[in-house]
Amino acid sequence: MAADAMKTLWLLHGVNLDMLGRRDPAVYGSMTLAELEDHVARHGEAHGFTVRGFQTNHEGEFVEELHRLAEGDADAAIVNPGAWTHYSYALHDALELVRAPVAEVHLSDVERREEWRRRSVIADVVDVRVHGKGAQGYVEALAALARILAGGEGP
Ligand code: DQA
Repeated sequence: MAADAMKTLWLLHGVNLDMLGRRDPAVYGSMTLAELEDHVARHGEAHGFTVRGFQTNHEGEFVEELHRLAEGDADAAIVNPGAWTHYSYALHDALELVRAPVAEVHLSDVERREEWRRRSVIADVVDVRVHGKGAQGYVEALAALARILAGGEGP
């Protein structure tokens, strides 16, 4: 695909996800965050996305990054906010401002772990949700976002 036809996809990781590779590999896999970002970038290209990565352990910084996306700095986004997913209404409200399609992805199967992980407070403000599929889940999210941007039915 011609470079000028590429769309920008932001890949946002939240709290503790910088520790991938050291967190329990049985739950989160063995890739480091840098390896995961590379994996998503490589697959993203096939879907016409230039992938840009961001990670922070500070909720306010994550919110500010979403504000930047809300100002039109992305064609699509994948977010894995880590534990914030389960209680951060601040992220919910910031995501409400983002007009580009957004996918919520979790490496682990949040539905089959502790009760408190079953709840996502951002579920109603994202377009695509994938969990429990490890790094492959991000690839599924890319495909779903590409379909949405192409005017297809999405997930
Ligand atoms: C996670 C699931 C969350 O419950 C957890 O707090 C994380 C990672 C995942 O990718 O499986 O930090 O978002």
